Amino acid sequence: MHQDIKKILISEREIQSRCEELGAIISRDYAGKKLVLVGLLKGSVPFISDLCKRITVPLQMEFMDVSSYHGGTASTGQIKVNKDLDADIAGHDVLIVEDIIDTGLTLHTVIRMLKLKGANSVKVVTLLDKPEGRLVELQADYIGFTIPKEFVVGYGLDYQQYYRNLPYVGVLKEEVYTSKEV
Ligand code: IMP
Repeated sequence: MHQDIKKILISEREIQSRCEELGAIISRDYAGKKLVLVGLLKGSVPFISDLCKRITVPLQMEFMDVSSYHGGTASTGQIKVNKDLDADIAGHDVLIVEDIIDTGLTLHTVIRMLKLKGANSVKVVTLLDKPEGRLVELQADYIGFTIPKEFVVGYGLDYQQYYRNLPYVGVLKEEVYTSKEV
């Protein structure tokens, strides 16, 4: 375990097995549809990478970069589009792939934007859900794990851009928030 991690919340093995389960459900639900996975950068990268390999129906992969958190541990509620989709998604069935839903503000805006682009349907798969943090009403269609309102890192999730490469989801030691070097 990394020296800055206090405890592992979800192990690599648990994540992999959940990806397999979600992949099977999504493959069944999207049979015969024009599936486009839209990964939200950068946090969804490990998840979309493992999940897409477990989906057996034809799919396209797109990425968007929107920011809501600015290097801290609380949501600002501000959303900025840094990178938009490359492809036209009109008439396609979009499945947004997200690392974690906390306040729901990010996804609320992204869903509205993708509907405006003419998607046939827009659904959400999230690795983690923190329902206690919600500021807007929003329910993911597929959830990997529901977790308590705790700041987590690893498997795509960062603290000041670090820890995304950890193969598990863990809780940081308190002293890491107070020191400058990671
Ligand atoms: P929301 O708009 O509050 O739902 O925030 C969603 C985004 O905030 C996620 O895509 C993450 O980038 C970030 N975020 C929320 N909770 C955490 C956390 O516990 N650790 C790391 N990033 C988080």
